[in-house]
Amino acid sequence: MTIDLNELPRRRGTQSLKWDQGFGDPDVLPLWVADMDFKCSPAIVKAVSERALEGIYGYTIRTDEYENAITGWFRRRHDWNIEAGWITDSPGVVPSLSLAVQSLTNPGDEIILQSPVYSPFYDVILKNGRKLAESPLLLSNGRYEMNYGRLEALMRGGAKLLLLCSPQNPGGRVWTKEELVRLGDLCVKYGVKVVADEIHCDLVFPEHKHYPFASLSEAFADITITCLAPSKTFNIPGLSTSFAVISNPKLKRQFDDRIQALALSSVNFFGPPATIAAYNESEPWLEAVLAYVQSNQEYAVSFLSEQLPALTPIVSEGTYLLWVDCRELNLPPAELKRLMYKEARIAFNEGSQYGKEGEGFLRINLACPRDLLAEALNRFASAIQSRAN
Ligand SMILES: Cc1ncc(COP(=O)(O)O)c(C=O)c1O
Repeated sequence: MTIDLNELPRRRGTQSLKWDQGFGDPDVLPLWVADMDFKCSPAIVKAVSERALEGIYGYTIRTDEYENAITGWFRRRHDWNIEAGWITDSPGVVPSLSLAVQSLTNPGDEIILQSPVYSPFYDVILKNGRKLAESPLLLSNGRYEMNYGRLEALMRGGAKLLLLCSPQNPGGRVWTKEELVRLGDLCVKYGVKVVADEIHCDLVFPEHKHYPFASLSEAFADITITCLAPSKTFNIPGLSTSFAVISNPKLKRQFDDRIQALALSSVNFFGPPATIAAYNESEPWLEAVLAYVQSNQEYAVSFLSEQLPALTPIVSEGTYLLWVDCRELNLPPAELKRLMYKEARIAFNEGSQYGKEGEGFLRINLACPRDLLAEALNRFASAIQSRAN
């Protein structure tokens, strides 16, 4: 492993959404959108560079090597035997969520989500003309839990589909097998289909284990579209490469028909070599990144408890995102933004974008060198302390 995770790569001036979008001040430190301030694994950089040097960027086909890289990874890391025929390529996980909504429901249908949740979950329901059926997660002893009573009421009331975020963004839960089985049993009982966004499945700390929802039983697999990608895990979101896994042939046909209708089946030229290098050669890089992120989380949690005891971090079990309860500051969303961007000159994500239950929370991206995290937290603490004085 030759990457020094303590070193901040040059990102400003690279057309980076995270670093160059600006917040009215070029000095704002960006710890928001979920990409990492770590260079990719050397294997990925080599594979993409070699591909670029071919000098012709033509239409691309899917190879056995690509499929084996995916199936091998999920067998090794998640005890999940995916067949190559279950895989459909897609330009992104969010596009897959939207395609799944279109292929499995009709306009006006109710779709369940568990808030607070990654904001595009709202968009793929509402902008496709479907109805939101919200089951807020319960925050109990600093940990989110599913509200099975509410979920069952929504299903009994006719909801057609459930969007599952597993592991959960922004709350950082890695759902246990028991929690997922209880959820899945309800879905099977009420004929509710499931779209499982498992993009964070490989970003799980060693004390926890991710269970692919569709791997838990044939009955669950039969009602599920699982949306996956190497992009979050290996820091390649700009390569627009992801895939859906669907073992039920009828659901797969419906999903594939939407892909065809929108002419989205073309594979990104750089996607397959990056995916192969990620899944076949980048495990040591991932282990190092996970250990680093976990130590960043420990650092941030102890910083907050010493310097800002009014704030309560919700300790993540997975993902590189730390969700912080700032409700004791008593600031409405616009004021929380002002505090971040103008006074502290940092950009975390403001919680209300994840739904009403996110109001008063902030989400901090921990996938960055420690010095950057420390500087951002110091700026944040000084801004809050100077408001108090
Ligand atoms: C839960 C979740 N799904 C999907 C995405 C983005 O997926 P894509 O860029 O492949 O559309 C993210 C990015 O942060 C995410 O957190």
